[in-house]
Amino acid sequence: MAKQNGHRAERSGGGTRRINGRLLARLIGEAPVERPYYLAIARSVSGLVLDGRVPTNTRLPAERDLAAALGVSRNTVTAAYAWLRDNRFLESRQGAGSWTVLPDSGTSEPSPFIPTAEHIDLGVAAPPAVEGLRAAAFQAAERLSAHVGGLGYYPYGLPELRHAIARRYVERGLPTTPEQIFVTNGSQQGVALAVDMLLQSGDEVLVESPTYPHALDAIRQAGARVRTVGVTPQGWDMEYLVDAFRQWKPGLAYLIPDFQNPTGALMDDDERRILVREARRAGTHLIIDESVAELAIDSGDLPAPVAAHDTDGRVLTVGSVAKLLWGGLRVGWVRTTPPMVARLMAIRQRFDLAGAVMDQLTATHLLADVLRIRAERSRQLRRNRDVLLRALRERLPDWRPSVPGGGLVLWTTLPHPVASALATASVRHGVHPAAGPVFGADGTLERYLRLAYTQPPDVLTDAVERLATAYTETLVHPVQPRGQLYV
Ligand SMILES: Cc1ncc(COP(=O)(O)O)c(C=O)c1O
Repeated sequence: MAKQNGHRAERSGGGTRRINGRLLARLIGEAPVERPYYLAIARSVSGLVLDGRVPTNTRLPAERDLAAALGVSRNTVTAAYAWLRDNRFLESRQGAGSWTVLPDSGTSEPSPFIPTAEHIDLGVAAPPAVEGLRAAAFQAAERLSAHVGGLGYYPYGLPELRHAIARRYVERGLPTTPEQIFVTNGSQQGVALAVDMLLQSGDEVLVESPTYPHALDAIRQAGARVRTVGVTPQGWDMEYLVDAFRQWKPGLAYLIPDFQNPTGALMDDDERRILVREARRAGTHLIIDESVAELAIDSGDLPAPVAAHDTDGRVLTVGSVAKLLWGGLRVGWVRTTPPMVARLMAIRQRFDLAGAVMDQLTATHLLADVLRIRAERSRQLRRNRDVLLRALRERLPDWRPSVPGGGLVLWTTLPHPVASALATASVRHGVHPAAGPVFGADGTLERYLRLAYTQPPDVLTDAVERLATAYTETLVHPVQPRGQLYV
């Protein structure tokens, strides 16, 4: 284990990952073209760094290589690198090359999760309890009589719940036995336990940028060095992802391929196959977070779980009922091999002996009706997503929101890098969005905001009015606060 150090410094200097000229030229090529060309290149590279698509501490190609890949003169690239250095996006050292940095990057403190009832909270992506929860709780109380004569401790999870979870994987196309299921108190506990079990001293951990902040906290607090690959609402740049596995050979990778939090991206079957193939080649364990995998909004076939491509037990799948049923039911799980289930149990027992039987009975009861519940959630979320999108289009037409096909949040691009300042101003107007940097590994993502659509339509419409007022105010007084975290 690599617990001892806490969060290590991310910026060792000198750049430990390289990006070659051809790949960088391709990423730059997606940017709008402006003149002079050196400035277009420099702005595009700084944008890629700010958006987390080229991570900080990445060694850029030699000037002549990038010039050749872009088909421009070397002087153009020299001028672009000089601009990046002047604007503190690049550091260089004789003999060591040039690597990407941010002027003020990173936070080592975990991001606090404190939901608030004082504001319209678009920062917390948690829907109210599903219909039928109370009835299921009464049923669970009835079924409790079968358990009260026993000890009440089920260290691996309640047997009937392990069955129900395994059955659901089988229905989704992934053969699974109850012995492969380890029940946890929510998926966050599953992520933290899996990281604890799998992380070796000195390991690097690959995560998406943006990603789920509490998973990032768990990884950092375990002492890992974090590496990022960019993801956008359009998905993963698979060439970049493959390159990351081959260059870094990370010990561990944490990804959210199903309605990725916060971008909403969905990885297709082919990409899942490539992901597992590269993990196998690199000797990487994969933690796949399926917390919102059951929350498809639009119709259409869903890809099989990532673990369906696994042949040697390197994929650990984390799941939860928090988003499908209710966050107040603290029930999640890890799907892995039976020997790993035993190891997870031993680690958990250092601080928590077992989950609550009542919660597990309630979840078991509701999971028997999973298809009806999925359909109900899907209707609710489609209505809410569409209301939020319509309100944004009307009131904030220059924002560019994603249209997620599932999950609970949309990820919007802002025309200016003011997300943290806007989040602070919004709170003054009674609404609570999540600023992009909360989801970044290193202070990037100031051009993004995450908005949850778990509130009813009238509340969402009101929230957008308030956001619009706060946005106008922010553009007039563009203050950039640091250290404000809303999850
Ligand atoms: C991607 C992801 N993972 C894990 C969690 C934690 O969920 P739980 O309440 O099951 O611990 C969340 C909750 O927002 C999430 O979005």
